[in-house]
Amino acid sequence: MSQAHAPPPGWERPKISSSVLDHIGVTPLVRINKMARDYDCEILAKCEFFNAGGSVKDRIGKRMILEAEKSGRIKPGDTLIEPTSGNTGIGLAITALIRGYRMIITLPEKMSTEKMNMLKALGAEIIRTPTEAAWDSPESHIGVAKQLHAQIPHSHILDQYENPSNPMAHYDGTAEEILYQCDGKVDMVVVGVGTGGTITGIARKLKEKLGSSVTVVGVDPKGSILAVPDKLNDEKRLESYLVEGIGYDFIPAVLDRSLVDEWVKTDDAESLKMSRRLIKEEGLLCGGSSGAAMHACLQVARRLGAGKRAVVILPDATRNYMTKFLDDEYMVAHQLEPRSLLSTAASLLHQPPTTTKEAAEWWASKTVIDLNLPSPITVTPTMACSEAAEIMREHGIDQLPVVSDIAGVLGVITLGHLSAKILQKQASPNTPCAKLMFTQFAQVPLSTRLSEFSHIFERDAFCIVTTPMRHLDSSPNGGRAKWHEKHVIVGVCTQVDLLKFVMDGSDDATLGQNDGRKPTQEPAQRIERGNAMDCAQLSQYQAHPFRGGVTACTGVDPRRCASGESLGACARAPS
Ligand SMILES: Cc1ncc(COP(=O)(O)O)c(C=O)c1O
Repeated sequence: MSQAHAPPPGWERPKISSSVLDHIGVTPLVRINKMARDYDCEILAKCEFFNAGGSVKDRIGKRMILEAEKSGRIKPGDTLIEPTSGNTGIGLAITALIRGYRMIITLPEKMSTEKMNMLKALGAEIIRTPTEAAWDSPESHIGVAKQLHAQIPHSHILDQYENPSNPMAHYDGTAEEILYQCDGKVDMVVVGVGTGGTITGIARKLKEKLGSSVTVVGVDPKGSILAVPDKLNDEKRLESYLVEGIGYDFIPAVLDRSLVDEWVKTDDAESLKMSRRLIKEEGLLCGGSSGAAMHACLQVARRLGAGKRAVVILPDATRNYMTKFLDDEYMVAHQLEPRSLLSTAASLLHQPPTTTKEAAEWWASKTVIDLNLPSPITVTPTMACSEAAEIMREHGIDQLPVVSDIAGVLGVITLGHLSAKILQKQASPNTPCAKLMFTQFAQVPLSTRLSEFSHIFERDAFCIVTTPMRHLDSSPNGGRAKWHEKHVIVGVCTQVDLLKFVMDGSDDATLGQNDGRKPTQEPAQRIERGNAMDCAQLSQYQAHPFRGGVTACTGVDPRRCASGESLGACARAPS
């Protein structure tokens, strides 16, 4: 039943604001039109990207600082340190600069460059930490923040994971606004969950005011473990995902899961495609987790009948993702959309689709196998990064795949990243490669056609070429052996390798030497160029149907396995 609700704090705004902090909160509630066309219920979006700093986290940044000042815990001139995935940092940095605090942010590598640059522009100091570090390890953004806190006098971690001001900002602010804007008529609220501050604050207030008539739906990405019951988290458990701001590998203290009636798990493709739809169909310039929340909302709101109302929270702005999901190339490179997306965009501009142009090229139908890439040099996750740098220097290469016996390709270490970390004193020569490697990089199978492959270099400096390898693992208890599959690396390709292949072939074509068809190089010649393939990789390479005759090269090639054994003798050689 509708009931009158008092205007929330800050609803009446003066003609002239005393600072930008007055523009945190009181965000618009916008009706979803096209996307909800065939729904009986009404769907309303709470657009948190209208906050001064562009996200829902501005609310807690302001609240945590003002409350800490009020209690005497902090005073202007102190240092604030916060481990954050970005938006909380921006929210805190805005309030910190207005109130006069030094701000240090520890930020996982996965978070967008846009967020990092924004934080820098706001005067915050940034320390980036490995995305794959477990939350309780000393290298994680949380671990590094604690370390700095111990070292810097008059420093404070306001700690959004534990600070009651986090849910309270939503209990007193976001929830009151929703109640006022809806005249108390809300049947369902759908909220993405990170620290849980947003859902906890909103749910607590709505349940107090509306009782059990309101259904609270939590949205958790696959890979995170916040959803209840825990078996919901089994699919892709603890695997990495691209959507930023939601999900964790631990349960934050401010998240009260007893207030959540129902959980929906979401994946990257459906979330990011939905964000693009929100922009295109509703004109709402929101971020990736907004797509996750909307995707979940469209599922659960289906069961609401006429006259019912669902509110979905859109937490942040597209501004953070201009080079990410907003970029067609990004969507294709991460296999979230088919390559045809790019040709469609081209045809809209009345340009001949790239694929058609390329199809006419002699190299377009060739595959990565034809590039005859040099055999790869790889390093282990425990190798010291100084040793990896020396290998790169010696071989004149800029990147090295990090490979383990059991899992195959784990990541890639690059010279640029390594030297930046050493120069900024964020790594020492003894730091193991695992700590400095990127875990997200372009990766293709050998069979990829060059017409498709060539687009990778529009985004990425290099690409790892792999081939799947299956092996049987005998069970330790004498049970049935199990098949395992891993991706074995067979090459690293840069734009120069592709360009050289195309130019060499084009020269031959121009001279009429081979009718435009580049003859396939003798694999044995090629294999002599590299000498760090281990036995497992070599045998994989030899076993490939296109590598006929390579076995002969073991005779010509005096190489030894990377482990130091003679070829065929090392423990990694498959029996
Ligand atoms: C980008 C972003 N920031 C913050 C949040 C809200 O997170 P929290 O649970 O920490 O309040 C979300 C939730 O969807 C989000 O997507």
